[in-house]
Amino acid sequence: MENKIVLNTDIVQGTINRNIYGHFAEHLGRCVYEGIWVGEDSSIPNTMGIRNDVLNALKKLDIPVLRWPGGCFADEYHWKDGVGPREYRKHMVNKHWGGVIENNHFGTHEFMLLCELLGSEPYICGNVGSGTVQEMSEWVEYITFDGESPMADWRKENGREEPWKLKYFGVGNESWGCGGNMRPEYYADLYRRYQTYVRNYGDNKIYKIAGGANVDDFNWTDMLMREAAQRMDGLSLHYYTIPGDFWKGKGSATDFTEDEWTITMQKALHMDELVTQHGTIMDRYDANKRVGLIVDEWGTWFDIEPDTNPGFLYQQNTIRDALVAGVTLNIFNDHCDRVQMANIAQTVNVLQAMVLTEQDKMIVTPTYHVFEMYKVHQGAEKLSLNFNVDSIKLGDQEIPQVTASASKDKNGKVNISLCNLDNKKASTIQLDIRGDIKLANVSGRILTSSSMNARNTFEQPEKVKPVPFENYRVAERTLEVQLPAMSVAVLSIDKRL
Ligand code: AHR
Repeated sequence: MENKIVLNTDIVQGTINRNIYGHFAEHLGRCVYEGIWVGEDSSIPNTMGIRNDVLNALKKLDIPVLRWPGGCFADEYHWKDGVGPREYRKHMVNKHWGGVIENNHFGTHEFMLLCELLGSEPYICGNVGSGTVQEMSEWVEYITFDGESPMADWRKENGREEPWKLKYFGVGNESWGCGGNMRPEYYADLYRRYQTYVRNYGDNKIYKIAGGANVDDFNWTDMLMREAAQRMDGLSLHYYTIPGDFWKGKGSATDFTEDEWTITMQKALHMDELVTQHGTIMDRYDANKRVGLIVDEWGTWFDIEPDTNPGFLYQQNTIRDALVAGVTLNIFNDHCDRVQMANIAQTVNVLQAMVLTEQDKMIVTPTYHVFEMYKVHQGAEKLSLNFNVDSIKLGDQEIPQVTASASKDKNGKVNISLCNLDNKKASTIQLDIRGDIKLANVSGRILTSSSMNARNTFEQPEKVKPVPFENYRVAERTLEVQLPAMSVAVLSIDKRL
């Protein structure tokens, strides 16, 4: 079958919120400690305690928003333990994640510094599970109140005169599970109560995010929307791509069969159905789509790397992860009318990470490259695409071989991201480009590999990286693209050149 995609550059279908390209960093394993924070006295070059190599790599992704401090950790975190002189900060046990000692050296000030250095909006997740309303309310006061108050004065004593701007605040995390094992009815009431005290001080306006559903718990979404939609700006959703079984064995990150590859693609594509269905429920209560669907945890979740701490969720990252990232980001772009933010889990050394570190060494992953290539979509106008593409068979089921997304940036440049999900077959795609654009200035980049589990290692850090892509032919209004198996490509048509 001929693969045909019609792109109409004159039909704009909304704006892709740049926050869809958001990230998540939890106090989990070696994400924050070692991965981001090494401390000012470290021999690893750092900026006020934050390692420079990681900082510089992450800066290139233009991370719009960063979620912190968890995850499950958020509902055990007491922010007051993490401010003031570091030598006096209380130590705690990180019960969720490996039972290790948390010295609280990375707290509010350090997180806000990280966001400032990255140019990212902070997204803080507050503690509903084991924290009080007062504690949550005082955190917001500490960060954002400009004037004289117990919390603002304490912030000043701790070295920060001016309040920070804080836009995104989550009221609890996974309240159906690690965040308190609540029923949706109960959490909806708690949400209403806690969010009351998440105040707007001065001109700081908080976008309040309610803890949302796990995967396909549509009842949770329904209940939250029914009971609390008027009091929220966003409602979250968590979904991880797990080829195996969460409890019995998720599957190896690097050692997998062709079928496992395809199952992983199928599971990644499931995000489309989830976003559609949760969105349909939200439509019932919020037809104007005021409340954003915030997919604030997503990504691959495999078995840990052998001989690593089971509580640290450290996994390698291959070209398969790159495809999951590309496919999922295409889905979010497609649903940009409802999906207002997404945060891949997690930034460094945990799950589907951007960056892996080993003492003073750092490598970037195939997933990192997808985020770097796709940043052209951030804040751009989503363009209309129509597909007629081949499928890949998986038992008696079928998944599309190719997914894509297209957008137009503020300079009129059109960017098309294409994923070939097939691990064996290349795809020839006729891209029929309509609208007021000349196909004169086309350029492209591609991320691909000839082996399913290709990855970057500390020995071979550049095994998987994007290269210029020229395997396309322009014929009048058509771009004929030869997309190799297992590839993510971004093609650009620049009006200005
Ligand atoms: O990202 C790892 C964990 O997955 C988070 O802490 C939790 O929210 C989710 O279950």
